[in-house]
Amino acid sequence: MKLLITGGAGFIGSAVVRMAVARGHEVVNVDALTYAACLDNVAEVAESPLYAFERADIRDRAALDRIFAAHAPDAVMHLAAESHVDRSIDGPADFIETNITGTFNMLEAARSFWTARGRPESFRFHHISTDEVFGSLGPEGRFTETTPYDPRSPYSASKAASDHLVRAWHETYGLPVVLTNCSNNYGPYHFPEKLIPVVILNALAGASIPVYGKGENVRDWLYVEDHADALLLAVEKGEVGRSYNIGGENERRNIEVVETICGILDRLKPKNTPYSQQITFVTDRPGHDARYAIDPSRIRDELGWQPSVTVEEGLEKTVRWYLDNEAWWRALQGREGVGKRLGTGT
Ligand SMILES: NC(=O)c1ccc[n+]([C@@H]2O[C@H](COP(=O)([O-])OP(=O)(O)OC[C@H]3O[C@@H](n4cnc5c(N)ncnc54)[C@H](O)[C@@H]3O)[C@@H](O)[C@H]2O)c1
Repeated sequence: MKLLITGGAGFIGSAVVRMAVARGHEVVNVDALTYAACLDNVAEVAESPLYAFERADIRDRAALDRIFAAHAPDAVMHLAAESHVDRSIDGPADFIETNITGTFNMLEAARSFWTARGRPESFRFHHISTDEVFGSLGPEGRFTETTPYDPRSPYSASKAASDHLVRAWHETYGLPVVLTNCSNNYGPYHFPEKLIPVVILNALAGASIPVYGKGENVRDWLYVEDHADALLLAVEKGEVGRSYNIGGENERRNIEVVETICGILDRLKPKNTPYSQQITFVTDRPGHDARYAIDPSRIRDELGWQPSVTVEEGLEKTVRWYLDNEAWWRALQGREGVGKRLGTGT
């Protein structure tokens, strides 16, 4: 398959690019290279004859038309987005422009290309979204594909809007779309502003490890390579017009995740005092959703996907990766906003 992957220099997109090339797919990586991107994430495939890179902004429709015409993909995997909730609180405009208008441009460029090719049934537009569109859960229940949308942050509202556009382009124009909504990813190449890398890197630096509120918020954790595997399955085998929830079935309170990482570091890089002594509780994020939990039965039962690791196994792999790849994360720590408290709503 020839895959046009947007956001392939980001965290999840780069995992998809690496896995797709390793499995023999041709890949065209379309990325604007924002603050969150890093081409080192795809260095291992950069020289492959199966790989091409196009620096382009999905807000630029003309650039997208040129790229579709030049590469003639069999399928699109659309991951490019502004993805950090805290940044969406401080500056929502970029989230509206990239996540909503950018997705609109992607849909129109894809529709124009697909129509010009005679509307092939085999074409796919796979939109990658988040479980945050479903809002916040109480102590019980899990999100299914039919849970009503109830986004509560500028980020999740912009992703919800993009999901609605993708469904509308299927219903109205017949574009063959597939959607996936996943839980919190973690793993290698995670940008050092997100919770898990922040915990690892602050612990290693001897700095305080910030935990929002009391650390009681519950998330379902999905190892990024398991997610990439699910996405490649969904684009190849997913039913047109259908959405699939992807989760690791690894619900943990944030404080449990932080303590697990501290325990792994105590083993792998021991020092005089336990790393957990560096944990500091800080003011909560405004509108912080209490609990997300994904029911992944549909993708498991219909497409045969299942996660390969528990969160404890995945966290150990992740901590080892950060210990072995200091040059990668050090280079990103100087980027704008990294290491600062963002999204306090003040
Ligand atoms: N990280 C998670 O836990 C998670 C969970 C659920 C869903 N998602 C979704 O998965 C996708 C990928 O997330 P991620 O964590 O890898 O994000 P990321 O922030 O690491 O990477 C996003 C990539 O998109 C690119 N990009 C941003 N704006 C662009 C634009 N206007 N034009 C072209 N490229 C642009 C960036 O340069 C970057 O390479 C997003 O759509 C996100 O909403 C992420």
